[in-house]
Amino acid sequence: MLILAIESSCDEFSVSVMENGIIKSNIISSQIKDHIIHGGVVPELASRLHTKNFPFVLIDAINESGIKIEDVDYIAYTNNPGLIGSLIIGRLVANTIGYYYKIPTIPLNHMEGHIYSANIEEKFTYPVLSLVVSGGHTQIQFIKKPLKFDIIGSTIDDAIGECFDKVARVLGLPYPGGPEIDKRAKLGRDDAYIFPKMKIIDKFNYSFSGLKTASINLIRKAMSNNSLEINDFCASFQKSAIDYLLEGFENAINYFKPKTISLAGGVSANNFLRNRIFSIGTKYNIFKILVPNLKYCTDNAAMIAELCNEYIKKEFKT
Ligand code: KG4
Ligand code: ZN
Repeated sequence: MLILAIESSCDEFSVSVMENGIIKSNIISSQIKDHIIHGGVVPELASRLHTKNFPFVLIDAINESGIKIEDVDYIAYTNNPGLIGSLIIGRLVANTIGYYYKIPTIPLNHMEGHIYSANIEEKFTYPVLSLVVSGGHTQIQFIKKPLKFDIIGSTIDDAIGECFDKVARVLGLPYPGGPEIDKRAKLGRDDAYIFPKMKIIDKFNYSFSGLKTASINLIRKAMSNNSLEINDFCASFQKSAIDYLLEGFENAINYFKPKTISLAGGVSANNFLRNRIFSIGTKYNIFKILVPNLKYCTDNAAMIAELCNEYIKKEFKT
C-alpha cells in the first residue's frame, strides 16, 4: 500500500512517501532563513513560499521513493491546526493530485501526527501517555488504544515552544529560539538564575505566561547592569521550564499508569527533555519510552503518513 503525505501547517512544506508502513522519502523545505529577519513566522510569506516550493518538494519525494504517482493508494494531508493560508496550499495540492489521478484524500490532524511520529521506527504498546510540546501546543494526551486520543491536560496560555522562542528573542538569539537555548544551555550552569515556582493547575494543566514574564524581567534587569550570562540563563530557564513540564507529566503517569510514555512536537528535539524522559521512565518502571527520531520531531510529512497508515489499518480491521 502506498501513501503520499503532505504537511504544510506552518513554515515547512513537506512530502513523504510510505510503502507498506515503511517511510521511503521525507522531504522538508524549511523557510527559516526567509522568516529569520522578521524574528518569527510571517503567515502571508509562509503561504506564498509554499506555492513556490511545493513542486520541487513533491518531485523530490516521488523521485527519492522510486514510486510512480499514479500507483499511490491514498493521499493524506494536514487539515488542522495550523496557519490557514499554509494549510490551504497543502490541501489544494492534495486534492488536485487526488482529483487528477482519482486517488482518495484523507484530511488529518497535525497534533495526532506529532504523537504518531514516535511510532514510526518502534511501535507503541498501549495505553500510551504522550507529552505533546510544540510551538503552538502543550498537552498531555492519553491514548488508551490506537487512535483513541484524549487530551487530559494542556496549557491555559502560552505553549512551551512559544515561551522558548519569546525568551530567546529577548536574549537576542535567532528564530527559532528553542534549538538555540538548547545549544547554549549545554554550556551553562542551571542554578545560576532563580525563577518563581510555577504551580500545576488541577493536576495536569499548565500556565507558562508567568515563567515568560519573569524571564523577560530577569533578562532586562541583567542587561541593564551588563551582568547577563547568556549560557547560564539558557541552562537555568530550560531547567525551570522542563522541570515544571515534567511535574504535570509525572502526575499523569501516576494517575493513568501507561505502558508507553512518549514525547511529541518540535520541543521533543530538546536534549535535556529527551534525557529526562528516560530517567522518569526508569523511575516509574515504564515498559516503553519512545521519543521520535530527531528528523521526525519538528514538522514533517512522515508523521502524517504514519498517522494515515494507522487510520487505514483500523478501517480494514472494523
Ligand atoms: O512542532 P513544531 O515544529 O511546529 C509546531 O507545530 O509548532 O515545533 C516548533 C517549536 C518551536 O517553538 C521551536 O523553538 C521548538 O519547537 N524547538 C525546540 C527545539 N527544537 C525545536 N525547543 C527546544 N529545544 C529544541 N531542541
Ligand atoms: Zn508541529
